[in-house]
Amino acid sequence: MFMKREDIEKEIEECIKKAKNFSNQGEVASYIPELKNVDENGFALSIVTTSGDIYNFGEKEKIFSVQSISKIFTLIMALKDNTTDEVFSKVGTEPTRYEFNSLIPIDQRAANPFINAGAMTTTSMIYGKSEEEKFNRVMELIKQMSDDGTFTFMENIYKSEISTTDRNRAIAYYLKSKNIFAQNADEVLDLYVRICSIGTNVESLAKLGALLANEGFDIHSSNLIIPQNIVQMTIAQMASCGMYEKSGEYLMKVGIPSKSGVGGAILGVVPNKCGICVYSPKLDKSGNSVVGKNLLKILSADLGLNIFL
Ligand code: DON
Repeated sequence: MFMKREDIEKEIEECIKKAKNFSNQGEVASYIPELKNVDENGFALSIVTTSGDIYNFGEKEKIFSVQSISKIFTLIMALKDNTTDEVFSKVGTEPTRYEFNSLIPIDQRAANPFINAGAMTTTSMIYGKSEEEKFNRVMELIKQMSDDGTFTFMENIYKSEISTTDRNRAIAYYLKSKNIFAQNADEVLDLYVRICSIGTNVESLAKLGALLANEGFDIHSSNLIIPQNIVQMTIAQMASCGMYEKSGEYLMKVGIPSKSGVGGAILGVVPNKCGICVYSPKLDKSGNSVVGKNLLKILSADLGLNIFL
């Protein structure tokens, strides 16, 4: 990005306008009852470069639940707490064509860490004496990664999901039956849902993305926060598995390793350039934000962010 700041801003605003042409498509998630209670036209975008420039648009203070974007945090935590071999003996690294909460891609283990079964597996590998300690360690990690960004626990979202999440409960018990973890299945499920219910805004997630784009080094202090091999594995899994059963098509069209969540956000990481987070809660059938994925595609082309070009 060698343009003047105001020219970059204008360019991004044009991209936003084009992406908003898709705002009549998709639907807000409703299988978690509380997720229905959002303004379906809510929109926010944040781009944080590895040199520390921040570009914010729309409702930058808007707090939403991270949902499956948390699968990034949980994978990183599991990889910090265990060896790579330990983690990937329990969860695979392959994309799946089945939806994120399917039981089909669990053979001997879950297909990858970014479907629900895989994230429950990595959740079970977080160290801590109590559930509270494990949750707090995740919170500390993400605050550190995003330079003390805004992160809260959205109790209303947690309660809404934990009381309705029969499919995830089935997955947790199935994993337990396969000896993927030794803990009580309800405890693993509870921690998984709590971590999905972390609330934040686009800027905090984009900052966290910028740290990944910066090979794990804090963009201001240059301190190494996440070991480079963990950063590399996380970005690789975002590229191959981050957008569920649409990961291949998305990677081909957009060319930015990304992770989506049913809360309506998508986090993209462009190595050595920037972290990008877009929020727009209307989702396609796979659970990916419609305006979000289109905006990432347009930004990728307009700003030259495609990692394959
Ligand atoms: O487990 C669930 O179903 C949600 N807590 C998270 C799913 C999710 O975000 C998948 N995203 N597109």
